[in-house]
Amino acid sequence: MSTSPATRTLLPLLPDPMAEGHSRASRSAMTCTYRCDDACFKPAPNTTATPHVRDEIAKVVQRRSVLKGAAVGTGALALAGGVLSSPVAAAPGAGRGAGGAVSEANPSADLATTPFRTVPPNRRDAVVVPDGFTNDVVIRWGDGVLPGAPRFDAYDQSVAAAKKQFGYNCDYVGLLDHPSNRARSVLVVNHEYTTEPAMFPAEGYTDAEKIEIEMYNHGISVVEVKRGATPGSWNRVAPRNAPLNRRINVDTTFFVTGPAAGSDRLKTTADPSGTRVKGTLNNCAGGMTPWGTVLSGEENFNQYFAGTIDPEYAASYARYGISATGSRNWGSVDPRFDLGTEPNEPNRFGWIVEVDPRQPKASPRKHTMLGRFKHEGANVIISREGYAVAYMGDDERGDYLYKFVSKRKMAKGRSGAARDRNKKLLTEGTLYVARLVGDGAEDGTYDGTGRWIPLCSDTESFVDGWTVEDILVDTRLAADAVAPTRMDRPEDVEPNLVNGRVYAALTNNSQRGTRFPADEANPITTSQVRDSLDGELTPAAGNNNGYVLEMLAARGDHAAPAFTWNLLLVCGDPEAQETYFGGYPKEEVSPISCPDNVAFDTKGNLWISTDGNRLGSNDGIFRVPVAGAERGNVQQFLTVPRGAEACGPLLTDGDRALWTAVQHPGELDGSSFDEPGSTWPHTDDFPRPSVVVTYRRG
Ligand code: FEO
Ligand code: CA
Ligand code: CA
Repeated sequence: MSTSPATRTLLPLLPDPMAEGHSRASRSAMTCTYRCDDACFKPAPNTTATPHVRDEIAKVVQRRSVLKGAAVGTGALALAGGVLSSPVAAAPGAGRGAGGAVSEANPSADLATTPFRTVPPNRRDAVVVPDGFTNDVVIRWGDGVLPGAPRFDAYDQSVAAAKKQFGYNCDYVGLLDHPSNRARSVLVVNHEYTTEPAMFPAEGYTDAEKIEIEMYNHGISVVEVKRGATPGSWNRVAPRNAPLNRRINVDTTFFVTGPAAGSDRLKTTADPSGTRVKGTLNNCAGGMTPWGTVLSGEENFNQYFAGTIDPEYAASYARYGISATGSRNWGSVDPRFDLGTEPNEPNRFGWIVEVDPRQPKASPRKHTMLGRFKHEGANVIISREGYAVAYMGDDERGDYLYKFVSKRKMAKGRSGAARDRNKKLLTEGTLYVARLVGDGAEDGTYDGTGRWIPLCSDTESFVDGWTVEDILVDTRLAADAVAPTRMDRPEDVEPNLVNGRVYAALTNNSQRGTRFPADEANPITTSQVRDSLDGELTPAAGNNNGYVLEMLAARGDHAAPAFTWNLLLVCGDPEAQETYFGGYPKEEVSPISCPDNVAFDTKGNLWISTDGNRLGSNDGIFRVPVAGAERGNVQQFLTVPRGAEACGPLLTDGDRALWTAVQHPGELDGSSFDEPGSTWPHTDDFPRPSVVVTYRRG
């Protein structure tokens, strides 16, 4: 830590954005602009008339009183026994709870089972954890990743420096076993986007310099880390001693795999083969595969493109939110981001990418077989029969849940030829989109059945009039043709390896009741929000606080086309009428709003991070048991600093460590580098997005 502690006065907290007609949870307008190009201020790109999940929920929710204390174990939940013995495979990573050297440590340090005093809602400029726990910053924006990285200097940033330093706005966190050193693991982190006003002082950089530096602050970092003295603590290894360290940036070559590799629609001047793409952008969440690689989702890629739109491309662009006026203006420094010059360049983003941290020189890959949309992330589970099944969300209001099932079975063995074979599993198979149907109100639960509708295999189209290639490039448009269920911003979709169920965070949809038709019976349309920590609950149109969907594959077989579903959580203030916490007594849970990413500990508890709390508090991370008497008991474990979003999360070390990516600290309306909304982690007088690890005090 090279710089002096913060002395600057923080920007005062601004009024709640909703009071000014702001439509997106409590995200600052600044976050909206830089994160997703104001997607929520624009009409939802899905203008089809396919059923909305709201309509299905509306069928099954008549009276809140019925739900309060509703017993679990009926309907979908009664099938749980069928999956407990399901042969699922854990990733060979510390991230799946590998105990490693600390497996004999004090069990009271186990975050899965230890009781803790929940963290109350707050607006502190700190990472706040329960008494008895502490956290360390493992790596910050600008810290060295590659040998020769200069010491970070916000006043002397450059492309050359950024290429060797940890990027901006960390999001997904993965931790994999080190291939040769048991004391170490390999940390893989996404850098989703940049927040220009927070990165640069008012003077000193031209617009072009800022854009170029920001380009290289995107991408992915691979960083060797080593265990600290206290179980659950970790430190980064000096770059000169960390040969696996890597910065994947906007210049890194990606090989394109799957049926759309080489498609005319992927060809550009720089890549007439349509098989090699420079860079990955807007990497949001991700997942570790059972064969020891990391998947990462290219999410709001539309914002990097702008320019003259050829009518031939207009419909596709519109469905992905690509516009002539995309906010980033990257075409001014690299013509490939100009739509008039390279109309196919946007087709080369919006994919799931796979990185092998063991091979720092190998090209990462973009898998067309998993479809192209605003990928939040992808999480793989191995089915009963041994197929790789990837669950995915398209994070946009009104967009869909997807699933991929591999053609080939996973090979046994975690190295050599087996590993090489498994790294091809995502190149052939079948892509599906989800349709959910409510089963009626009589049973008093939010639940129903679902169907995975096939879109295409690697050789066959299942959508009339569409080729496989076009389905994979224009996945949203192809899916529209088969009437899936429009969801409220599907984010992380992740299987729980303990109970075999799949959990999806549906963050919010502020336009329900306006651009999306209202429904009187729907609890979401009467949702309530709180302007400040001590404010009153007030009604607000739309699904403002989000919910968590729980899905159960038929017969516990993730490759099966049928599933059942229920809402585990309808988030919001427990005092609000519409909220529901898996049947747990509402007066005993922590308020939770806008679930975004999910993770599981080795006991199967769900951990949820939030983005855009509508209840007056900073965002945070929550532990939620999903079985037994504690099912639905939402317990706040951590809050992130002012203006930040909680990303990750990840439990490792036999549940003794919780990893959190603190994204965009200080991103409050009116804030800037010179007038910051936060100075966390308080090593400088401006904020630095950073990865922290939380553990029991020694
Ligand atoms: Fe980048 Fe869907 O959050
Ligand atoms: Ca029902
Ligand atoms: Ca996210």
